[in-house]
Amino acid sequence: MIPQSFIQELLNRLDIVDVVERYVPLKKAGANYVACCPFHNEKTPSFSVSPTKQFYHCFGCGAHGSAISFVMEHQGLNFPEAVEELAKSIGLPVPQETTQREQDIRAAQTAGLPETMQQALRYYREQLKLSEPAIQYFKGRGVSGDIAAKFGLGYAPEGWQNLSAVFPDYATSSALVETGLIIENDEGRRYDRFRDRVMFPILNARGNVIGFGGRVLGAGEPKYLNSPETSLFQKGQELYGLFQARNAIRVAARVLVVEGYMDVVALVQHGVEYAVATLGTATTPVHVQKLLRAADEIIFCFDGDKAGRRAAWRALENSLGALTDSARLLFLFLPEGEDPDTYVRQVGKDGFEASYRNALTLSQFLFKEITRELNLTTDEGRAKLVQTAKPLIEKIAAPALQMMLRKRLAELTGLSAAELTSLLPQASAVPTRAPKAKPRRAPSLARQLLRMVLLRPDLAREAAMEPLEEENIEAHALRGVLDLIQHHPQIVTHAAILEARRGAPDEALLAEVAGEALAWDDAFDVPQEFNGALEQLRAQARQKRIDSLLALAKTQALSPEQKQALTRELAGGRVS
Ligand code: UTP
Ligand code: MN
Repeated sequence: MIPQSFIQELLNRLDIVDVVERYVPLKKAGANYVACCPFHNEKTPSFSVSPTKQFYHCFGCGAHGSAISFVMEHQGLNFPEAVEELAKSIGLPVPQETTQREQDIRAAQTAGLPETMQQALRYYREQLKLSEPAIQYFKGRGVSGDIAAKFGLGYAPEGWQNLSAVFPDYATSSALVETGLIIENDEGRRYDRFRDRVMFPILNARGNVIGFGGRVLGAGEPKYLNSPETSLFQKGQELYGLFQARNAIRVAARVLVVEGYMDVVALVQHGVEYAVATLGTATTPVHVQKLLRAADEIIFCFDGDKAGRRAAWRALENSLGALTDSARLLFLFLPEGEDPDTYVRQVGKDGFEASYRNALTLSQFLFKEITRELNLTTDEGRAKLVQTAKPLIEKIAAPALQMMLRKRLAELTGLSAAELTSLLPQASAVPTRAPKAKPRRAPSLARQLLRMVLLRPDLAREAAMEPLEEENIEAHALRGVLDLIQHHPQIVTHAAILEARRGAPDEALLAEVAGEALAWDDAFDVPQEFNGALEQLRAQARQKRIDSLLALAKTQALSPEQKQALTRELAGGRVS
């Protein structure tokens, strides 16, 4: 856990304009800066960065957030990684809010692990230059020197203890065992895990090596040997090639997901640079989340055989919960007997990309698979279809997409929408990004206040505010934010408030209101609106006091003080 006070200090020391400018050239436009949005394709700039609010917002795609969110989204980092990166950029060490015991355990677990991996990587890369058979192997598979360098390809020579040449503490180092670079058998004898294999380093989002895949040069079992899961490396979370592909993914606005190391290398070699691979595991929901942070379009590419179809189905199932309405998932099946490596070498980049035309959308693939063995001309067949589709459709987190699938299911089964709803109740999924079109309703007073407070925390800090009578989630969020502002003087910007509430139950609501606040900002005089809202609050409170006095008067005679109070309140306000 990173202490909240540090997050606030970091935000105060950074300028979002500088941070964004590191990645995207900005142009000044009035009080703000604008650019073409780096998160979606556009020709006219709708991406705006506000130095006073320390916030960015895209009026096109709805992307928005603080400097930390920007680095997360743009660089594909998680929260602690983004904080680390930003802190590093201004030379601020990140404190850790953990117990001593946790610190000790973590320190012991990760002490020297990254350095150890890095050193091994250097060694394997050097060894590749020295091994004619390994060089020939890669050449034979069409890998150029540039691509080998880009992916840090290497070679682990024959022999049992080669790493002892680079690690003088080979016999005692716990890091070597922890990283899985060496194996210790029951008798305590140590030996290298990777022997006589070409090596594919696996990098995390920051470009640090966290694992390896090693392939035999000829025939042999297993064909690929991978690093075990360690505190650095969790297979269900990492994607091979993502670090190298980051820019290409942004430019192409899509990411291609394949199964093998060599598939990625061959694709990139042929110019399909936005390719990544899962690491010998099924595609997980975490993978999908990471990928959707990088691009809206994901193309899953599988072999055309039965195993490929099964893998595709697992990817589909694991994607449902992570979907957003802006996401577009495609399932591409290659001709029988081909994998992306052989196929791209045969047809080249253009031919490969042309094959996307034959890809199935998520909805097409889903219905194709679940109707595969059903006879939809019978009632039983159609009933079975509803039963199979129901749990899948319910899992979909994207409301519009879910609705499309329900419609399609209604068509296939001949049920009306209402009949289907009785079998499959509508989910109230919360989209992660602010939806573009929503039926307009006058915002509650709490929501209006929340917008103003997000824009001008300073106003709220000084104001004498009546307690809010409304009881809705906006009022609840507003109380939380007011409390925050009043107790934390270092919170001075819009972005700071949102960061302080990251992970809180009202995070999604605040993000939504923040978006409204920005759109609203230019059209209103915020201090004046704020005073108006305070006046409205006062009127509400007064009305409440009057109502309770009047209610009391019905059951008993008022005391002289109560009568006086009533006259005073009535003189000050309206009774309806
Ligand atoms: P494949 O068996 O399809 O191999 O494994 P490939 O990628 O076509 O390999 P080449 O072209 O013969 O070099 C696909 C992926 O499954 C994992 C690896 O990640 C591999 O890239 N795998 C496969 C293993 O982890 N271990 C194995 O023994 C085999
Ligand atoms: Mn292959």
